[in-house]
Amino acid sequence: MDPDLSRPGDLPHRAVVQLDWRQPARPGRSAPQEDVVTAFLSVENLSVRFETKDGPFLAVDDVSLELARGEILALVGESGSGKSMTSLAMMRLLPETATATGDILIDGVDVLALGRRAMEDVRGARVGMIFQEPMTSLNPVLTIARQMTEGLVRHRRISRGEAAVRALATLTDVGIPEPDRVMRQYPHQLSGGMRQRVMIAAALTLDPGVLIADEPTTALDVTVQAQVLDLLVDLKNRLGSGILLITHDIGVVAETADRVAVMRAGRIVETGNVEAVLSAPQHPYTKGLLASHLTLDRVMTKRGSRPPRLTEKAGAV
Ligand SMILES: Nc1ncnc2c1ncn2[C@@H]1O[C@H](COP(=O)(O)OP(=O)(O)OP(=O)(O)O)[C@@H](O)[C@H]1O
Ligand SMILES: [Mg+2]
Repeated sequence: MDPDLSRPGDLPHRAVVQLDWRQPARPGRSAPQEDVVTAFLSVENLSVRFETKDGPFLAVDDVSLELARGEILALVGESGSGKSMTSLAMMRLLPETATATGDILIDGVDVLALGRRAMEDVRGARVGMIFQEPMTSLNPVLTIARQMTEGLVRHRRISRGEAAVRALATLTDVGIPEPDRVMRQYPHQLSGGMRQRVMIAAALTLDPGVLIADEPTTALDVTVQAQVLDLLVDLKNRLGSGILLITHDIGVVAETADRVAVMRAGRIVETGNVEAVLSAPQHPYTKGLLASHLTLDRVMTKRGSRPPRLTEKAGAV
């Protein structure tokens, strides 16, 4: 049975599920209660420094970027270039040995200046994060239902029952078959791909204005990968969310992102509109990245990209 569709024979609560929250809550984010401020992420001169036994190490080195609503900004770069540390700094989830300096504004809120409690409200409610490693954010001893509803109960102040209804619908959205059954399961009972989707669904239940997705599709097979990327594009289009998409895959960038920032050794070495950067890369590192991606032409064709506009210059992120 296709879990996406309700049918006359469906359990009655399923039909109610679909109507209850989808109609008022989803289209257009028309009733966002307290968080009416335009979702917007701005990072200025961010550095992340580790104190190691060999001395200080700068994992992120003076990074500045901006993310508007309704756009996907890809952060691309080789392994170890500082992509995850940049995003973890935004969520204030860096390892204890790391120190972040600079300015991070989310919805106008200065994240680095917030107290622990206030930060917890920002996390999840305004910014959703899909972590590189699903088990980082899934609690092994809680059922999927429990972890899917926690944020809703906490940040949206709705009952556990209502939250469960919404969680179920979001699991359906991310293409989880038999969502009712999955709700009762624990993370270890799911495959890696399913866990990834659950984590994505958990981030989406709150309709975050900003979503940070760290390699959201790396662990997934190609078909599911395409579905998840479609889901992110849909989130952007339908809810106007801003998405920071972290990837090492330039093909994913070509297919989904509006703008791209290329990172290397902790620094952003090139930024701009995706078509402009991919068709006329300026930095030797970006050129190398592109040269190593043999299928890019095919991806760009699939995306239906325009021929390169030579007048277009990479601008500031
Ligand atoms: N706890 C730590 N202590 C010291 N250095 C660290 C620590 N965690 C990460 N680093 C270093 O910080 C740098 C940036 O790491 P980061 O995880 O941000 O890379 P990344 O771009 O996300 O890579 P990947 O594509 O492999 O996920 C790396 O050089 C890494 O070795
Ligand atoms: Mg990483």
